[in-house]
Amino acid sequence: MEVSVLREVSEEQNSEFLEEFAIDVLTGLSKPDKRLSTKYFYDDRGSDLFQKITQHRDYYLTRTEFNILKESSSKIANLISEDEVDIIELGAGDGHKSELVIDGFLGQGKRVNYFPIDISAQALKQMEENITHKSELEIHGIVADYLQGLKFLKERSKRRKIVLFLGSNIGNFDRTQSENFLRQLWKYLNSDDYLLIGFDLKKDVEKLSAAYNDSSGYTRDFNLNLLDRINRELGGNFDKDKFQHLGVFNPKLGAMESYLLPKEKQEVYIKVLEHRFEFEAYEPLHLEYSFKYTKEDIERTCQHTGFKLKDHFTDKDQLFIDSLWQVVKN
Ligand code: AVJ
Repeated sequence: MEVSVLREVSEEQNSEFLEEFAIDVLTGLSKPDKRLSTKYFYDDRGSDLFQKITQHRDYYLTRTEFNILKESSSKIANLISEDEVDIIELGAGDGHKSELVIDGFLGQGKRVNYFPIDISAQALKQMEENITHKSELEIHGIVADYLQGLKFLKERSKRRKIVLFLGSNIGNFDRTQSENFLRQLWKYLNSDDYLLIGFDLKKDVEKLSAAYNDSSGYTRDFNLNLLDRINRELGGNFDKDKFQHLGVFNPKLGAMESYLLPKEKQEVYIKVLEHRFEFEAYEPLHLEYSFKYTKEDIERTCQHTGFKLKDHFTDKDQLFIDSLWQVVKN
């Protein structure tokens, strides 16, 4: 696999990263509504726990989307007329779902240039190990932010592009953030390029609740890992045993939310910040949004951001949708 590194992770940037982490923690914990950013979930341990979540029976999203793509990949390839395409994936993932989409195109005798974009070179390498090499498939990893990587590709390749943004990753953005992100994406694509995007659908709250409070406690550990990370990297003294995980559906927002609740009044000292934070008993610490959509929400979002809806691909229980959009430019 050829790899282009647009974003070097040097010593200096590492200290920049820590600086940003520290500031985000300081501002988040100083607010009257305490919060931490999902940006910091995915260190090695966090990525490992997320992988375990996706394989758990309570977390229906990953396997449902896998089955949708398995079912629809040749139909998707059929909708796209070019016989050589660029498939660009935002976030490397484990490669299993990407391979289904790629195989749909290869199966129709098309050539595929696959460009996974991820900020972690390590994640790209791991993904590549899960993808079988084939003669009509070219893999080119890009270490970059999503939009930086897209801009790079727009300047380099004139081929028809299909961007994959799978896994309901859009769900971490609120409605405004997601529309802003999709407009930027639109800007870095050419007219008639495609976006295949995964949305988790609004559904029975019991089902949602089970997915974000899995019976093995992986989601709890995934959230608590952020406290560990603060302890490790910023010299904090969070006692994880004193926090309870809560995943709950907020029907006004249309989002699952994750909280950590302190089981008793306590103080936490964070050395790098030279600051002590007070927690009241059960004062909510907000960690994550996972926004859920209806078909109508998806169609509205598509229209608002400069795309034309080509087709929806869903499962028989209507748990999840992969939606194929096409860029409209005049
Ligand atoms: C990676 C954002 C799609 O929101 O479902 C899983 C992350 N958090 N369990 C999601 C997550 C708790 C996941 N996304």
